[in-house]
Amino acid sequence: MEAKKYYPTKRYIEFQKNAISNSEIFWEKEAEKIPWYKRWDKVLAWEEPFAKWFEGGLLNASYGCIDAHLNSWRKNKVAIYWEDEQGNTKSFSYVQLHREVNKFASALKKIGVVKGDIVVLYLPMIPELVFSMLATVRIGATHTVVFSGFSSQALADRINDTGAKVLITADFGIRREKYVPLKEIVDNALKLAPSVKKVVLIKRTEKEVNKESGRDLLYSELVKDAETYVEPEPVESTHPLYILYTSGTTGKPKGIVHSTGGYLVYNHSTYKWVFDISDESVYWCTADVGWVTGHSAIVYAPLLHGATIIIYEGAPDYPYLDRWWEIIEKYGVTIFYTSPTALRMFIRHGEDWIKKHDLRSLKILGSVGEPINPEVWEWYYKYIGNERCPIVDTWWQTETGGMMISPSPGLELVPLKPGSATLPLPGIDADVVDDSGNSVSHGTKGYLVIKKPWPGMLMGVYKDPVRYKETYWSKFKGMYYTADYAMKDEEGYFWMLGRADEILKVAGHRIGTAEIESAVVATPFAAEAAVVGKADAVKGEVIVLFVILKEDYKPDDDLKKNIINSIRTQIGPFAAPQEVYFVEKLPKTRSGKIMRRILKAIVHDKPIGDVTTLEDGASVDEIKTSYEEFKRMLKG
Ligand code: WT7
Repeated sequence: MEAKKYYPTKRYIEFQKNAISNSEIFWEKEAEKIPWYKRWDKVLAWEEPFAKWFEGGLLNASYGCIDAHLNSWRKNKVAIYWEDEQGNTKSFSYVQLHREVNKFASALKKIGVVKGDIVVLYLPMIPELVFSMLATVRIGATHTVVFSGFSSQALADRINDTGAKVLITADFGIRREKYVPLKEIVDNALKLAPSVKKVVLIKRTEKEVNKESGRDLLYSELVKDAETYVEPEPVESTHPLYILYTSGTTGKPKGIVHSTGGYLVYNHSTYKWVFDISDESVYWCTADVGWVTGHSAIVYAPLLHGATIIIYEGAPDYPYLDRWWEIIEKYGVTIFYTSPTALRMFIRHGEDWIKKHDLRSLKILGSVGEPINPEVWEWYYKYIGNERCPIVDTWWQTETGGMMISPSPGLELVPLKPGSATLPLPGIDADVVDDSGNSVSHGTKGYLVIKKPWPGMLMGVYKDPVRYKETYWSKFKGMYYTADYAMKDEEGYFWMLGRADEILKVAGHRIGTAEIESAVVATPFAAEAAVVGKADAVKGEVIVLFVILKEDYKPDDDLKKNIINSIRTQIGPFAAPQEVYFVEKLPKTRSGKIMRRILKAIVHDKPIGDVTTLEDGASVDEIKTSYEEFKRMLKG
């Protein structure tokens, strides 16, 4: 059978052409769709690589996400349905959400938070997490959410980078009935991060936890007598809405700074195009708010549109394997957004769990975080969408702020291809280039770049303009470097081929190899460490660690456990390696760079193969010899 050909529709091509060639007019029209206190003077002030979108404009994210709906029928609709593993529920209408956010905003003001402050949030998936984000930005402060799976050391590092004075946390998080001692982790972190003077403690459970007098304040006490209305603080379009830390290629995570105006405009538009979201949507994104997906897809974009969001606290397969499908049926979810990792886990358990539920409310299905293999795509399409719902495979990054390459059924559905993120969204000038920055012909693998600024783009790396410039704008002149490999096919569709740098995607979570390596060499017994990703049928990638021990230490299982533990306490349990090998040396180039390709070939039990792209500057002979030598050493 001849393969079916798919081409982008004429309408998409025209639309996109206009969006790119008249980009400022295009984005100006999009910006008019969200509420502003004062219109901008300039659509884009661009001093490469620094963009100021909608310069001169004033707005407030909390106003746009809540107050703006109060004069319409949306006032009394549900904004948030929350549910936990056990099936306990809470719901908040837009009016109630407004009340909660205002009370907490007033409380934050009372404890001294002012415009320009940074507030750190270390919370489980509870409604108060959303209240905290919106209350913070309501008064002109900036939030930094730290994923509650990070350890106290990782939390302390992030606090120290921001110098935050206020932190919001909970006593415990609950997952698989296990209580995760968040407050205890915070107490330990604060020993290393003395800038925090006030801790707001949300009681998720009845269990007692340590309370430091003078420092720790109970959320319930603070909001009890708080004001029920706080005027939203109009902030400049370029005022930082949030900072979110993400892994880079060094041991130190980067604080990605997002603006208020550009970020909100971009997310407002793209959620319409991609998910066709409206105030009638029941929108469920299964990510944790601790990652960028949660920021854009759980909080800001759906609430800007006045949609109903679902927040689920717990594991996807607990206590039963149909927990998710049960929730879709119960609330009549119309848009469902998840990761390939989760889908691959469900595939292993068969379809019976799904067939128990009526999923006919679903309209659009989304995927994000890693490439979705065509088989998984087909399964998602068939068993979850019942062959009725388009699948939007959305490619984006913490840095891009919003979706960049994706089908856009809300605009016009171009023919889908399982496994391809399809085409750039309007206004996104994406391309695939070679090492010299020249566009490659179709069918050739290259680097994915973006050739024009877009409103959702990061404003920079917090307190580190040099790192921002070097990481994203130095590899190719005048282009944003994504550090992803991609390929365009004959019809111009994009296929994402994984990271081109030393960042791993483990179950969709982004982890830098350098972060893990530095956690390992921080132990007293490791002299050197190298981490590579190994392909995994469920998690996409798992972590494999090679360690050279210091002279006085002999390899044994206790040491292995010790090293794994130390990664868990320095970064978090999700960064623990699956395999650990003690080695005597690592394959290196003459200049001392680890040849990861060799390690990768070895963990996959594959020949070293094509060594024509010499990313690490080693010669072909050098690589081949090292490969053989290293393989022999591991076997011996
Ligand atoms: C990296 C960014 C942005 C949402 C969550 C991840 C990979 C993301 C896709 C996709 C193939 C994808 C890329 C990217 N990625 N979406 N649809 N297809 N790969 O954000 O943690 O900043 O990770 O995730 O490698 O660079 P993040």
